[in-house]
Amino acid sequence: MSLPTSLHELAQACFPKHVAIIMDGNGRWAQQRGKLRVAGHKAGVLAVRQSVSVANRLGLESLTLFAFSSENWRRPADEVSALMELFIHVLGREVRKLHSNNIRLRVIGDRSRFNARLQKKIAEAEALTANNTGLILNIAANYGGRWDIAQAAQQLAQQVADGQLAVADVDETRLGQALCLADQSPVDLLIRTGGDHRISNFLLWQCAYAELYFTPTLWPDFDEAAFTEAVASFAGRERRFGCTGEQIRTLLAESAT
Ligand code: IPE
Ligand code: IPE
Ligand code: MG
Repeated sequence: MSLPTSLHELAQACFPKHVAIIMDGNGRWAQQRGKLRVAGHKAGVLAVRQSVSVANRLGLESLTLFAFSSENWRRPADEVSALMELFIHVLGREVRKLHSNNIRLRVIGDRSRFNARLQKKIAEAEALTANNTGLILNIAANYGGRWDIAQAAQQLAQQVADGQLAVADVDETRLGQALCLADQSPVDLLIRTGGDHRISNFLLWQCAYAELYFTPTLWPDFDEAAFTEAVASFAGRERRFGCTGEQIRTLLAESAT
């Protein structure tokens, strides 16, 4: 096997294909500034924009962002409704930009609990960007890893009940095919900001072999440099050809021009 020659080939060889992020720490970011939690969520939108831009410029296949968990409904009602309003607002405002950057937007999770307006916005955004061929941006909203596995099991059970599938054929491959993101690479790198070291019911199945990267940086402070460090750390853990953070920064700088 010959070593990659150009920096870009090196990047292809040692970058993760699929990065997933648990975007945590918005509330603490706001509290540290004497602001309401919702101000932290608004500031977090800037960090989302930056991470999408970095993922796109690095040529990743998929970026999956945990925006709202199935457990987050337990938060105070005014915070939940502020978050829903923010989703609607951001979707409406950002989708054209995503589209013009050839990004495909997908929303994963149980959307039946969202109000009709939000469901409509999501469907429109997905339809507009469906044929794009660049980065796939998955937003996990009302998503839970256990919910995902349960809904996959339900699909297979239905196929068995309908006589389309034998019980003996229910295996890892079939179950995996019925899960969210089955059409994309498994997660290579899972990042969690905000300092906690847990998965919080995110992509349980899809992260089976993911490298885990935890950083104390609060989500609104997770900028281009912080994302670059996380990717460099992943590349460094790859024993074949590890890129350095410096090389990744050079690539990003080249793609910005
Ligand atoms: C993550 O930030 C954003 C969502 C869960 C929507 P948090 O709101 O959990 O912020 P902290 O963890 O309280 O700081
Ligand atoms: C995880 O953050 C969910 C999202 C980032 C959407 P949480 O703040 O909700 O997780 P816990 O409660 O600390 O586990
Ligand atoms: Mg939190």
